[in-house]
Amino acid sequence: METEVLQEQPQTALEPPFSLEGRTALVTGAGRGIGRAIAKRLSAAGAQVMASDLDEVMLRQSEAECSRRPGQVRHFCGDLTDPAVPAALVQATLDAFGAIDIIVNNAGYSWDNVIQKTTDEQFMAMLEIHLVVPFRILRAASSYIRDTAKKEIAEGKRVMRKVVNITSIAGTDGNPGQVGYSSGKAGVIGLTRTLAKEWGRYNVNVNSVGFGLIQTRLVQDLNRPDAKMEMHGHQIRLGVQPTLLESVKTACPLGRLGTPEEAAGAVLFFCSPLSDYVTGEVLICGGGLHF
Ligand SMILES: NC(=O)c1ccc[n+]([C@@H]2O[C@H](COP(=O)([O-])OP(=O)(O)OC[C@H]3O[C@@H](n4cnc5c(N)ncnc54)[C@H](O)[C@@H]3O)[C@@H](O)[C@H]2O)c1
Repeated sequence: METEVLQEQPQTALEPPFSLEGRTALVTGAGRGIGRAIAKRLSAAGAQVMASDLDEVMLRQSEAECSRRPGQVRHFCGDLTDPAVPAALVQATLDAFGAIDIIVNNAGYSWDNVIQKTTDEQFMAMLEIHLVVPFRILRAASSYIRDTAKKEIAEGKRVMRKVVNITSIAGTDGNPGQVGYSSGKAGVIGLTRTLAKEWGRYNVNVNSVGFGLIQTRLVQDLNRPDAKMEMHGHQIRLGVQPTLLESVKTACPLGRLGTPEEAAGAVLFFCSPLSDYVTGEVLICGGGLHF
């Protein structure tokens, strides 16, 4: 029976072999899905977390689920594609916690179609959320990161900071029907590799994690009536056809989708001291699946 199979599954360890006590993380798209799981992992490791998303109700749930002590997790609600919001989020994090040590650019959604049916607005929206938003957040954080690192270095201290930009196997491999999404997710790898070179001197590890198929609303049954989100006046369908999902599972060496917790585990590696000598890399967390 299914319940027995589930009970036999190994529990994913939540307590990591390091501590992020005293570190401050900013996580976008933390209202649900993988972003919430990342916020949970980081707070379980001791970090203070600023959770950002579009949806206040979901953010309050994340805050309640992730906080292990009062005030450990705070939230910032706003549409990151508004050009003023990324800088406001960075400032809100500095105002709330006085520091930024870890930035996870995770917020995203898919607005899919083949090239001949993709409008300019649709294509630009995918570049905006997956590439321009991470760029604006990192640019806004750059003064704090550079100034703080310069002081630490002058005092003879090496304090490692972390940037993790979320990409996808659609970005590394390409995926038919996702011309905009794939382009945005490929672009963010260029941002990652360039910033790794610009910020190495400031002791910042800049890496990407690319997911295969992870069980969130982005891979729910596309035929469900609620499989959509509202964005800038558009009702955007979110999900995939169940038949496609089955064929993908067959093609995946591990034979299943990943959980948000498993996805967050790969991100946690890049947020932790375990990755202090890794930068400019893309780690694929997809059960071995490639498109
Ligand atoms: N689920 C997968 O199989 C999969 C595969 C590859 C990559 N990814 C990537 O992982 C990341 C997380 O996706 P998920 O599967 O958890 O999806 P999700 O829909 O569960 O969560 C994404 C979150 O991002 C937020 N968001 C979207 N646009 C925003 C905006 N303009 N401003 C603020 N917040 C915004 C949404 O409100 C949502 O809460 C995304 O970047 C996605 O592209 C997911």
